[in-house]
Amino acid sequence: MLDLSVYSSQQNQQLIDSTDWNVLETEFDPSRLHHQETVFTLGNGYLGTRGTFEEGYPHDSPATIIHGVYDDVAIASTELVNCPNWLPFVVKVAGERFRMDSGEILHYERRLDLRLGIVSRDVRWRSPAGHTVEFHFERFASLANQNFLAIRCQITSIDFEGDIEVEVGFHPEPRTQGVKHWQTLKQGGLDNLIWLHSQTLHSAIEFGMAAKLIVEGEETASVCVRQGEHHHSTLVTTLQVEPEKTVTLEKIVTLYTSREIPTPAEAALIRLVAAPSYSTLLAAHIAAWERVWQDSDVVIEGDRLSQLSIRYNLFQLLAVAPRYDDRVSIPPKTLSGFAYSGHIFWDTEIFILPLLIHTQPALARNLLTYRYHTLRGARRKAQEMGYRGAMYAWESASTGDEVTPRWVPGPNGEQVRIWCGDIEVHINTDVAYAAWQYWQTTGDDEWMRDCGAEIILDTAVFWESRVEWNQQRHCYDIRDTIGPDENHDRVDNNAFTNVMVQWHLQTALALWDWLVKSYPDTSAQLAEKLYLQPEQMELWGDIANRLYVNQDLATGLIEQFEGFFNLEDVNLADYEPRTKSMQGLLGVEATSQKQILKQPDVLMLMYLLRDRFDRKTLKTNWDYYSPRTDHSYGSSLGPAIHAILACDLNQPVEAYTHFMRAAMVDLADVRRNAHEGIHAASAGGVWQAVIFGFAGVRMTNFGPIACPNLPPNWTRLKFRLKWRDEWHEFDLTA
Ligand code: BGC
Repeated sequence: MLDLSVYSSQQNQQLIDSTDWNVLETEFDPSRLHHQETVFTLGNGYLGTRGTFEEGYPHDSPATIIHGVYDDVAIASTELVNCPNWLPFVVKVAGERFRMDSGEILHYERRLDLRLGIVSRDVRWRSPAGHTVEFHFERFASLANQNFLAIRCQITSIDFEGDIEVEVGFHPEPRTQGVKHWQTLKQGGLDNLIWLHSQTLHSAIEFGMAAKLIVEGEETASVCVRQGEHHHSTLVTTLQVEPEKTVTLEKIVTLYTSREIPTPAEAALIRLVAAPSYSTLLAAHIAAWERVWQDSDVVIEGDRLSQLSIRYNLFQLLAVAPRYDDRVSIPPKTLSGFAYSGHIFWDTEIFILPLLIHTQPALARNLLTYRYHTLRGARRKAQEMGYRGAMYAWESASTGDEVTPRWVPGPNGEQVRIWCGDIEVHINTDVAYAAWQYWQTTGDDEWMRDCGAEIILDTAVFWESRVEWNQQRHCYDIRDTIGPDENHDRVDNNAFTNVMVQWHLQTALALWDWLVKSYPDTSAQLAEKLYLQPEQMELWGDIANRLYVNQDLATGLIEQFEGFFNLEDVNLADYEPRTKSMQGLLGVEATSQKQILKQPDVLMLMYLLRDRFDRKTLKTNWDYYSPRTDHSYGSSLGPAIHAILACDLNQPVEAYTHFMRAAMVDLADVRRNAHEGIHAASAGGVWQAVIFGFAGVRMTNFGPIACPNLPPNWTRLKFRLKWRDEWHEFDLTA
């Protein structure tokens, strides 16, 4: 059991301000630098920038990651790269560089304003020479204008009279976890502008960035270009201050890549020269966030930590969802870290999309269209592996080809074979499931006709070639797979996969009927393109009816895969307290021989296909599988799903425990790995836990209805959902 007192610690109280919209940090703690860089990440649907301080520290890990900017790398084949850093902003007070690890910090507060999408910081600092100055930094990545970024710095002298020098620039060739990906083609500066033109080493994506420095209200202050370290151009100005005088500096940055425009450096310069003022940019940015929150906010009363954390999770997802690009998707760590190389998993479709489908459908459509554009890669994969139709990559990048590493170095230098790319095939149905959910909720027939139908049908064709007829049992098998619980690989008849495939084939048939009736021309074209025959449709129905699932008819208990019940049973409580996953503790091989789940598998199925399982069956399977699941250090995808099912079973207190573990995963660094980046799937699960768990929302033919089961301390829960062009407002009490 999770000790909930963790969340009411002083540290977490400091997280919240009186408005429930601000994440606060009241102390500069170098030991938490990397975790807090993740927490203070900003994004605008185009890029993400970690919350690294402008002045830079020796062990910091700045990162700006742009959707779709992948480059080749060993092992993972391709990775999202760390783009040139736009933050550097150095201030010298009487020649002494401002840095919080020297001199004295007299006051410190950093905040992430979730409502406005702004990170700001107030520091009162005494330099080693004894000069006292106050800094107010704020920055944003414009949501209104995705190619604009800005930093404003206000410096107030308390007792200092003399020169303050400010130097701003870029770091042009940052490495990505030690790997070099950039070459600078050209860089320079003129008047109060600097620019950079660079290119990724292998994928040859060009990158252009430009910046200017404005000294607000100081007509006489001059800004000049300096050749800084390593011959990089920077912009420099020197200002005279005296006690009580405030100077304001603004660094405006524009950036493009050749993914959007053929000449990105030129575009960055042109946009910069004609850039609106900082205040105008800021006003548009704030207005854009306001529009987003109007539809996606969730209000919780009675529990301020839940309120702040749900908003935090929503913020990070809304900040990463691409606005103008349907050839990219959301990586497991958003654009805030490099774990998983920025590859795309089922995390997007199953965990993140529901929020967007129900509150920002245009963004959901972009993400699903990514899967349409990557169908070709999925077809190549099917063909390479000897199957027909489309087989989505377990890990996907720009083209949809499989990019899961096959071998990774193990803890003792040995090579460990990773099978997910070959056999974690449930991804195929996960994508189809999300496409179907989108259509059911939005009624977007056009998208289903033009994109969704091809996805759902061609992935169904794959299943037809993947299943095997078992003559002895007179049923179909799906052998050698990995279900969601990756502690067990190379298993036969994983129940999650098999039942989802049943659903998939039945759904494909229903969809085909609709398409033939509503759009006969499209159905004829698709039949030709995908070689669909009438007999095939019959076969789909037959496979769906006869896929093997081992379920005890008396109790309803489902075996996770063939032979799971024969594995050694262990009591997870015997291993407490621990700070590692069970797999980390026992090793890969030993864990695979035991009934220990990394994340829900049968229970995941019961959540996705809620209407197919009654409460008694759910209860039986919950009682069996939940105690065998590594809730604390298994997959971060699990806790939110357990929270929802616990609500279904009328266990709001247990649900709340799971919910908080998910909701606080990054803010409180519950799993001690937040430094690697935001847990995007968990964030999406948090929204689902509130809406489908605590609010008990179910979709009916007449729209969504709620059957709330609120945690004891929640006095109000308020949100809205869009269903077929109409908004439904929910305002629930216990
Ligand atoms: C989980 C997968 C997940 C992936 C990326 C793995 O540890 O088992 O379900 O898709 O992480 O988040």
